[in-house]
Amino acid sequence: MLIGIDKIGFATPKYQLKMTELAMARDVEPAKYSEGLLLDALSIAPISEDIVTLAASAAQSMLTDEDKEKIDMVIVATESSIDQSKAAAVYVHALLGIQPFARSFEMKEACYSATAALNYAKLHIEKSPTSRVLVIASDIAKYGIQSAGEPTQGAGSLAMLVTANPRILAFKDDNVAQTRDVMDFWRPNYSEVPFVNGMYSTKQYLDSLTTTWAEYQKRTGLTMADFTAFCFHLPFPKLALKGLNKLMTKDLALPHQEQLKENFEHSIAYSKQVGNIYTGSLYLGLLSLLENAKTLQAGDRLGFFSYGSGAVSEIFSGLLVEGFENQLSSTRQNDLDQRTPLSISEYEQLFFEQAQLDENGSVSFAEHQTNTFRLTGIEQHQRQYSKVD
Ligand code: CAA
Repeated sequence: MLIGIDKIGFATPKYQLKMTELAMARDVEPAKYSEGLLLDALSIAPISEDIVTLAASAAQSMLTDEDKEKIDMVIVATESSIDQSKAAAVYVHALLGIQPFARSFEMKEACYSATAALNYAKLHIEKSPTSRVLVIASDIAKYGIQSAGEPTQGAGSLAMLVTANPRILAFKDDNVAQTRDVMDFWRPNYSEVPFVNGMYSTKQYLDSLTTTWAEYQKRTGLTMADFTAFCFHLPFPKLALKGLNKLMTKDLALPHQEQLKENFEHSIAYSKQVGNIYTGSLYLGLLSLLENAKTLQAGDRLGFFSYGSGAVSEIFSGLLVEGFENQLSSTRQNDLDQRTPLSISEYEQLFFEQAQLDENGSVSFAEHQTNTFRLTGIEQHQRQYSKVD
C-alpha cells in the first residue's frame, strides 16, 4: 500500500519585512542578507496571529468536509508552543470542525518534529488505511531585536494530509535518523527567545547532513544520481545550498548536477520570501519545488533532509505520484506579494508586542490583518479564537 502526502496547505502572516529595510536599519550591507543568507523578506506575525491561527488557516485552505469527517488524528509539530500543557492541535481540531473521535496532540523536537509526525501518521495509516491524518508544522521564529538571529526570523504553517494512495508524494521506507546531544539552539521555559550558538549550529547542521547521508547511502545503496531533487531544512537558504554542495559528487553527470541545482533554486523560492518557519521549512521547500519547477514528473524520487537543533536529523525519500500537479496552487506567489510591507519601527512594534493582561488575566487584541482565523484576545487566561468573515 502506498502512503504519503495527499494535499498540502500553507499559511503565512499578512505582513512582511523586506531585508533591505532591515539591512538599512542595522547598518548592514544589503548583500549580506541577499547573497550571504539568500533572503529577500521575512513574514511578520502580529499578536493576533499565532501558531494556532496559522495552523488552522493552512489546513482550512485544503480540507473538504469529507476530509473533516475522515480525519482521526491531528498532530501539530511546533517549537514555539503557546501552552505547556494543552496541545495546539486541540484548538485546531475545534476551529476546523473535525469529527470528535480523533486523537489530537503536539510534538516537539526543534525543527525536526514534523518529520516524526509524518512517520507516526504513516504507521497509523498502515493499521487503518481508510483514515486520514492531518499533520501541521506551525511556528513563529523570533530571535529578538538586534540579535544575531534577527535576519533569520519568520512565521508560517504547512499542513499536510497523510493518506493511503496519496495524490502528491508516496513515502519510501528508507528513513535514516540520527540523534546527537548538542547545545546549538535551545529555548528554556523561562525565555521568550532561543539561545543560539549560531556558527556552531550551522556546523552541526552540515555535519548531521553528511554523516546521516553516509549512513543512508550505506543502508539503501542510493546515490545522488537516484534523486531528481533534494529538499533541505531551511533555517536560511544559503545553509541549505552549502548542504547541497556537500552531497554533490564529481562523478555525477553534468546535466544531472544542473537539474539538482535548478530544482534546488525552485525549492528555496518561497523561503527566501518568508524566512525560517522552523518545523515547516523543509516542507515549504517541497511545496516551493512542486509549484515552481516545470520539469518534475511522476515517479521522480525526491530526497529530504530534516534537521532539528539539539539535535535530531533524518534523511528519507518519496516518489512523485501521477497527477501531483493537480493538487497545487497557482496563486501562491501572488499571495506572498500581497503581504503588507512594514517599516522597521512597525516590525519592532508588531512582532514583539506582548499581551498586557488585566487583573483577571484578560485582554483584547486590535484587529490586525490575519489569515482565516484570528486570536481575538485572552479571557481569564483562556485564548479566544474566531473565524474571520
Ligand atoms: N556581501 C555578501 N555576503 C556577505 C556580506 C556582504 N557584504 N557580508 C557577509 N556576507 C556573508 C558571509 O560571508 C557569510 O556567508 P558564508 O557563510 O558563505 O561565508 C554570510 O553572509 C553570513 O554572515 P556571517 O558569517 O557574518 O554570519 P552572521 O554573524 O550574520 O550570522 C547566522 C549568521 C549564524 C546564521 C545567524 O543569522 C544566526 O545565528 N541565525 C540563527 C541560527 C540558525 O539559523 N542556525 C542554522 C542551523 S540551526 C537550525 O537549522 C535550526 C533552526 O532552524 C534554527
